[in-house]
Amino acid sequence: MLSLEGVYKSFTHHGNQIEVLKGVDLIVKQGDSLAVMGASGVGKSTLLNIMGSLDPPTEGVVKFGDKNVYQMNEAVLSRFRNREIGFVFQFHHLLPEFSALENAMMPALIARYPRKRAAEMAREVLEKVGLGRRLTHRAGELSGGEQQRVAIARSLTMRPKLILADEPTGNLDWVTGQEIADLMLRLNREEGVAMVIATHNSRLAERMSRHMEIVDGRIQ
Ligand SMILES: Nc1ncnc2c1ncn2[C@@H]1O[C@H](COP(=O)(O)OP(=O)(O)OP(=O)(O)O)[C@@H](O)[C@H]1O
Ligand SMILES: [Mg+2]
Repeated sequence: MLSLEGVYKSFTHHGNQIEVLKGVDLIVKQGDSLAVMGASGVGKSTLLNIMGSLDPPTEGVVKFGDKNVYQMNEAVLSRFRNREIGFVFQFHHLLPEFSALENAMMPALIARYPRKRAAEMAREVLEKVGLGRRLTHRAGELSGGEQQRVAIARSLTMRPKLILADEPTGNLDWVTGQEIADLMLRLNREEGVAMVIATHNSRLAERMSRHMEIVDGRIQ
């Protein structure tokens, strides 16, 4: 489904070149669950951003199916990102003044679904993550765990085949983190959504089918 070949990434900061990824090859298959681990600063978020078509690699090829992701023009790329990939960020990036339903509707509205249909799609995924009774709560009125559930629901709204999650349990207490981990693994199992999760949470990582660690810019 998604493949990375010879991916390098460096950043230039105040004239200094920082080489983060130094030749990463990786294949994600349909229904996979993959944990990306490694010390803080090794490049987990960098790798996820590259996989998610958010940031081009300095060198190397990223393919989704047979399409070369970074050769798409901007319009095709945004459409691709909106429809094929779901993102869950560490700091969920919800709109606090909008309701859970409205937040989860966003990807469908961006895809120009009619409002009513977008609301149905959002309701369905919010029910899936156990928030059927929080639809009209504003995001800012929800607990941290609930907000992270909304973020997961939002990543599912367009029914992507791949979800990329960057530290989805990073800001949660242990019990809530476990619940979120259970939820993500259940979605992987029941809905067949491939998951790539960057995490420091070894309990979560253990339960995924594949594990990889980034050490010195490469995958071990
Ligand atoms: N836009 C940028 N400009 C310059 N340097 C960057 C940029 N983004 C990331 N870096 C550097 O690249 C390295 C990898 O960052 P990254 O965020 O991928 O680490 P990480 O493995 O996700 O860490 P953490 O576990 O703390 O989230 C860091 O040293 C960081 O400072
Ligand atoms: Mg990170």
